Amino acid sequence: MRWPKKPEPDQPAQKSRDELQKHWRNSDDPSGYFQGGRRGEYLASLAKQYAKPDASILELGCNVGSNLYHLWKAGYRNLSGVEINPQALKLMKQNFPDMQVVIYEGSIEDRIKELAEYDLVFTIAVLEHIHRDSEWAFPEIAKRARMLITIEGEKGIASELHIARNYKSIFEGLGLQQVYEKNLGREEGLNANFYARVFSRNRS
Ligand SMILES: C[S@@+](CC[C@H](N)C(=O)[O-])C[C@H]1O[C@@H](n2cnc3c(N)ncnc32)[C@H](O)[C@@H]1O
Repeated sequence: MRWPKKPEPDQPAQKSRDELQKHWRNSDDPSGYFQGGRRGEYLASLAKQYAKPDASILELGCNVGSNLYHLWKAGYRNLSGVEINPQALKLMKQNFPDMQVVIYEGSIEDRIKELAEYDLVFTIAVLEHIHRDSEWAFPEIAKRARMLITIEGEKGIASELHIARNYKSIFEGLGLQQVYEKNLGREEGLNANFYARVFSRNRS
């Protein structure tokens, strides 16, 4: 006898990779991202632990630059960012005119291969929006990071815009070694779906 096929578990419809990129490219009011105070402070506290004052630092998905500005205020001067949304980059220039950042406008997928190696690469709420068809970019990110910080939603977040993943297994599988992990909350300006992870390049 043939058993009926099990129904698929309820999964929200996922946008295609092109739809996801279009959503972020055209999001025309990114000004809400200026309110990243507590997560920016938390990021700066992690950076001080893991990156020297002269470290080269790259943010993937930097939006209006609030996180980078926290690093700038903490004394870091070798800053770069990748961002797909031109409006966010315009607001960054208007709001942080004193901050010097090398900007790569475009998607992570389009720009990652031309980037050099950095002492520290970090992402906050960005990898969770990278489509499954773009996961080839994760090894490219790992190759460019002497240290990597991911602050990403990892659970309870499946939506048409979010993909839930465990970044410890992804980046350890790519040869990095996790040296720090924290489940975050309001104290860091986020919620309990978020984990901060710090990875170091494994030289063994
Ligand atoms: C939820 S926001 C987080 C912004 C910033 N990291 C922060 O902590 O305030 C996600 C950011 O990633 C950018 N983004 C999403 N997908 C991207 C892609 N494929 N390439 C480059 N940037 C992307 C969006 O435009 C947006 O700025």
